[in-house]
Amino acid sequence: MKESNILKRLDLIEDLPTLPAVAMEVNKMLLNYDTTIKELSDTIEKDQAMVSKILKLVNSSFFGLRGKISNISHAIVVLGFNTIRNAVVSISIIDAFSVKEGLDGFDIADFWKHSLSVAVTSKYLAEKTGIHSSDDCFVGGLLHDMGKIVLLQHFKNLFQKVWLAVEGNNLSFYEAEKSQIPIDHAQIGGYLARKWQLPAALVDAIQYHHSVKSDADDQHLSMIIHAANIIANTYAEDSKTNLELSDIHPDVLTILEGQFDTVSVWYPDVLLEIELACKFFLNESTK
Ligand SMILES: [Fe+2]
Ligand SMILES: [Fe+2]
Repeated sequence: MKESNILKRLDLIEDLPTLPAVAMEVNKMLLNYDTTIKELSDTIEKDQAMVSKILKLVNSSFFGLRGKISNISHAIVVLGFNTIRNAVVSISIIDAFSVKEGLDGFDIADFWKHSLSVAVTSKYLAEKTGIHSSDDCFVGGLLHDMGKIVLLQHFKNLFQKVWLAVEGNNLSFYEAEKSQIPIDHAQIGGYLARKWQLPAALVDAIQYHHSVKSDADDQHLSMIIHAANIIANTYAEDSKTNLELSDIHPDVLTILEGQFDTVSVWYPDVLLEIELACKFFLNESTK
């Protein structure tokens, strides 16, 4: 199957994961600069399950506002439109992709742990460098590999081919895709993000997290996700290992200069936050 055929087939699949109506509406509203706090909170309040999850999230340790926010309009005033959109999208994504079944050794729980690791690491890099909004980075990290789940659910044969190469030839998932099939999970994730009408910078960050594109819509977001993905993969396997700088795109090394040689100093704190994120997102808020 050619790449263009796969993309055509994606267009025809009716049960691709969707964002709930409220998340799509929130995305659309935020493209319009005239949207008011009242309009946004009225929209979110149409979905009461979403309201309680957002309030739980904004009052969690991730936002440092423990227990102080009691309603959605208050949350918007304190945190801003973009952060609330990102909270709605993060919560929706974990719900939309809550597939249970993996495939011979591809474990969904590991997939989420990796996604949250990249989300938290990206957020940290954004806060540390100040080059991009940290909650955009969190969502980008959470979403960056969602193309893998689409492959797993809708292109099982292709997924199987890739997975055999991962296991048998000791390749990374991306390397295995490059050698076995005409498309990769980053392209599929970018396609889905576009379909969900996510902001262009997020679409690019997902699509180019392996192959950094220097004229991406907001290259800092892509670059942070690219670096966080490599850091998370490196330290997931062995916490004492050294980061292989040659895996990191040279432009990213320049932009994030200073972060890589100190990674063994700051990463243990990030690991603690990843554990909290897994507890929060995977055990509590989405159940
Ligand atoms: Fe990836
Ligand atoms: Fe990844």
